[in-house]
Amino acid sequence: MNASSDRPIGMFDSGFGGLTVARAAIDLLPDEKLIYIGDTARYPYGPKPAKDVRGFAIELATSLVRDFDVKLIVVACNTAASVALGELQRSFAVPVIGVVEPGARALIRQTRNKRVGVIGTTGTIDSGAYDAAVKDAANELGESIDLITIACPGFVEFVERDETSGSAVTELARRLLAPMREAEVDALLLGCTHYPYLRDVIGQVLGSDVRLVDSALVTAITVRQTLADLDLVRVATRGEVVTRDFYSSGDAAHFFNLGRRFLGPELTNAKAWPI
Ligand code: DGL
Repeated sequence: MNASSDRPIGMFDSGFGGLTVARAAIDLLPDEKLIYIGDTARYPYGPKPAKDVRGFAIELATSLVRDFDVKLIVVACNTAASVALGELQRSFAVPVIGVVEPGARALIRQTRNKRVGVIGTTGTIDSGAYDAAVKDAANELGESIDLITIACPGFVEFVERDETSGSAVTELARRLLAPMREAEVDALLLGCTHYPYLRDVIGQVLGSDVRLVDSALVTAITVRQTLADLDLVRVATRGEVVTRDFYSSGDAAHFFNLGRRFLGPELTNAKAWPI
């Protein structure tokens, strides 16, 4: 292991959603140190203008590089990745990985009838990022795919207030997802990192014939491959407790309490960002 590989992986999201990606990264890459920033003071990103979200993304990525010396950045937010990934990749010397392309490739691998859906925030869906990524992924595999995309305003808010089941969120899901049922998609990408927390509700509304795909694991696999290609894989020493630090731009105590319920025991602290 070289000195560069000892540096942490940096990750950010507007709030708790990116913890689905953090969970997968911890499971797949348990030796890697992690810095996670949840921008809860400015969440939700979904309804905000693309230029504002781009500004937040640049600010967060700058902090990850400058304040934490990360070796790679994961944009664990579909909304930010949809509007800012290219600019981030051009602006920083470290690799920057988004969730959109890995998710689109995973989606295409899951369909049998070639009719797929993507749900996300208004910002993500309006950006057209998934239309382009699904088309590219389908072309790569020589497939012809029908895609339907739907914005699901309200889903993120249910997750952020820890209301991931019950009649209100189920009713909203039934209303928003009706066009997916009509289009008879057989694979649906949860194109917002918050949505895996609503997997049960979405699965119940769409039925067991529809495969639900999320980008957490495939993004973690992309991170592992990128680190390996650049000789940046970290190997923990025997008995080492690998450090993982979590920051929130909003209420850090709330982030700790809810974040720990979502992520699990590895979330041992939450501090205020900016530091
Ligand atoms: N979790 C984010 C995403 O994947 C953003 C949700 C939001 O802040 O609106 O799009």
